[in-house]
Order: sequence, then C-alpha cells, then structure tokens
Amino acid sequence: MGQNLILNMNDHGFVVCAYNRTTDKVKSFLENEAKGTKVVGASSLEEMVGKLKKPRIVMLLVKAGRAVDGVINSLFDLLSPGDIIVDGGNSEYRDTERRGKYLACKDILFVGCGVSGGEEGARYGPSLMPGGDQEAWPHVKTIFQAISAKVNGEPCCNWVGADGAGHFVKMVHNGIEYGDMQLICEAYHLMRDGLELNNDEMSDIVAEWNNGELDSFLVEITSNILKFKDQEGYLLDRIRDTAGQKGTGKWTGIAALDYGVPVTLIGESVFARYLSALKDERMEAGSVLHGPNTKYEGNKKELLEHLRKALYASKIISYAQGFMLLREAAKSNNWNLNYGSIALMWRGGCIIRSVFLGKIKLAFDENPNLTNLLLDDFFANVMSNCQASVRQVVTAAVYLGLPTPALSSALAFYDGFRAARLPANLLQAQRDYFGAHTYEILGAEGKFVHTNWTGQGGSVSASTYDA
Ligand code: 6PG
Repeated sequence: MGQNLILNMNDHGFVVCAYNRTTDKVKSFLENEAKGTKVVGASSLEEMVGKLKKPRIVMLLVKAGRAVDGVINSLFDLLSPGDIIVDGGNSEYRDTERRGKYLACKDILFVGCGVSGGEEGARYGPSLMPGGDQEAWPHVKTIFQAISAKVNGEPCCNWVGADGAGHFVKMVHNGIEYGDMQLICEAYHLMRDGLELNNDEMSDIVAEWNNGELDSFLVEITSNILKFKDQEGYLLDRIRDTAGQKGTGKWTGIAALDYGVPVTLIGESVFARYLSALKDERMEAGSVLHGPNTKYEGNKKELLEHLRKALYASKIISYAQGFMLLREAAKSNNWNLNYGSIALMWRGGCIIRSVFLGKIKLAFDENPNLTNLLLDDFFANVMSNCQASVRQVVTAAVYLGLPTPALSSALAFYDGFRAARLPANLLQAQRDYFGAHTYEILGAEGKFVHTNWTGQGGSVSASTYDA
C-alpha cells in the first residue's frame, strides 16, 4: 500500500522520499516500480528527515499497534515543531488520540488518517479519512485530495474531525464492510443451499443486482468470485469456510457497546466470523444436531427478488446503525462530524463504495441534523417497500434451517426501532424484583420507584426515589 501511495503521489506531481527499515526494499522499489519517477529513497530515518522540506510531512504505513509507537518515538527527536506525522494505518482511535497528545508536547502535528481501497485504491485513488490536528490540514489537503478517488469531480477525502475522529470513521467503515460482506454471504448461502443454484447462476444474479440499487464494489467482486475457475474448477468451492479478521470489526462492536448504540448487524457479522472459525466443532455438531429436512418449494424467482430487496433494506439498517454510532461518538468526543461529507468519502475509492452512498450523502445534505437515516423520506420509503421482503427471506431461511444472523438482526432492529412500546417494562420490573433497581412509571418519568414485589421483609407500597 505504501509503495502504491508513493507512486500515486508521484503521478500527481509530488516529490516523495521512500523509506523502509528493510533498506533492500527501498532499493528494489526505486530500481523497479519507481524507476523513471521523481521518487527518491532514504536508507535511514535520519536521512529521510534530512531530505524533506519544512514543514516536513511524514506519512506512516505501518502495521497498527506497537510498531506505530516505535516509529513515532524514533521520529520524535528528529522532527521539529510544526512538522507533521500522518498515520495511514488502521490504528485504534484511542491510540491516535494518545499519540496526538504525546506529539503535541513538542508541537509536532499528528494526523490519524483512515485509508481505504486496498492496494488498487492506494495506487489509483483511495478514500482518505484524515483527522487530528486541524492545523496540519492545509499542509496535507492538496496532496490528499489530489491522490484520492473522485466522485463527480469531488474528492473522496475531507477533514473529518479532531483527535482520533479520522481513525474512528475508518473503523466504522470497516465495521460496515463486515456487515456488507456478511449480508452478501448470507444471500449466497441461501441461493446455494436453499435454492440449489450453481455458481454461474449465482454469479449472473449477483451481476444483475449490481446493475441496480445494490451497485457496489463488494457485489461486483462477488459476482466475479462466484464464476472464477482455475484448472480444478470453481475456486470458491475449495476455499475453507473459516473467516479471518484483523480486528477493526471487533473494535466497532466494542465501540458500539461502549457508546451504548445498538449496532447489531455489525456485531452479528463479527460473531458470524467467529462461528465460522469453529470449523472442527461445527463438523462434529453437524453429525449430532439436526435441523429441518425441508426443501424450498416456493417460487425461486420470487424469492430471489425478495432477496435482492432484503439485502438492500438490511444494508440501509446497517448504515443507519453505523451513522448512529458516529453520532454518539461525535457527541461524547466533541467531534463536529459532517455526515454528508463522510458519505462522500465512502462513496468512492473504498471497499464499501457504492451508488447507494450517494443517496446517504443526499439525505444528510438535505438535512444535516437528520437524527437517523431511517427517518429520511427516501430511506423510510425504501424500508416500507422492502420490509416485507426481509420477512419473506428470513422466514424462508428459518424454514430451511439456514443461518441469517445479519439479515435477521436487521429485521429485529427495524421492528424494535419502530416499536413505540417494547417489553422492557417487564425487564425493569424483573430488575426491581430481584435487585431493587427501581423503575419509572409511564407519565411520571424521572421519578424512580421501587416495589416490594413479594410483600416479604418490608413494606408493600412503592417507595419513591428522585432521579
Ligand atoms: C480497506 C479495508 C482494509 C482491510 C481490512 C480487512 O478499507 O481498504 O478495510 O482496511 O482490507 O482491514 O479487514 P479484516 O482482515 O478484518 O477482514
């Protein structure tokens, strides 16, 4: 990714100095990929810093975690006040905040920048999500907006916010990426094992989906993956069904729990990866635990259309949840997030890029104070049109014994979110019953009361507690 970003910057007329602690890599890069460009190299951090104009801009593409601290510590003595360090890795946003504070004691500016789009994106136009010291933005803006992806001429890069805001937004991007991928996998599972379609048929259907509302990078590559063949046949069929992960989806789930936001679809997507990883246990359980012995007997074509609509609706739920998390984190951290601008940053260049993000941008542009994406007229209408399809698909999956945790959680969230009355009154009563945790009476909110539910060992009347 680092090499490709350098080449991308070079294409846009910026002179870049490449450094890697394995100096042979720099040498080989200069002699091969960067041959004939203006890229220069350095064989030590000192040499690299010495070659940069002031204020120096040093961009790190280092594995998230300790390695980032290591490089920052080494740079600390070499850089001067006003110089800028940009961390372009998938760092944890609290780490970014901490690093920013550490560098601030020497007036070194720190930018935590989410970079998405993989190697291809890095080379020809990634989505960039920079946050941190805003003073650094005028210095990096021209470079970042030049190298980023563009949608209708607008760069998929803008200033996100203070501290770890850039990395937080990238983390939520990745969480949404987990959700999108899981939804597509559930659709594949249903088509493969429920409707018994072959890979070419599925590839065609998914390609068709990509011509409409679901038009996105992940849907496009899925169609290609489904039909990909090598000498031994379809490659997909020989890939072990255990998902890996590097942690950003898990961090999104942790942040959701920390901020108290029901980001259920991403949570289920992370758990689905964990469940998939239990391959040996699943194989054993499969020989002991039985499900329904049913085949789908309905109209396949109709179910496929429901599936398309269910994917779209569930995707909307997932993005609504992601933006709910952004809003809550922004409130807690005093970040002034621009949700329309975030939607534009994700509209092109990144892994979750899709036509649909253009609609999200429109919704937030029209109403920057929109509290929930589902309350936007366009999305509320889509949900009304598609909710019955989610029910059809989830019902079919339940009937067939196929797991659809993401699709099911989307539906559960939808029904929960639109419910004026949930059964949490009983939950409060239970809490009060066994632990005197108190509850509020409808119409007298703010006053917390306790009841002695069994009449034993005390008064049976409700006592009142001020909130
Ligand atoms: C991106 C990707 C990138 C990476 C993920 C993969 O935006 O370019 O999100 O960051 O591919 O980290 O994550 P997992 O290994 O956790 O699936």
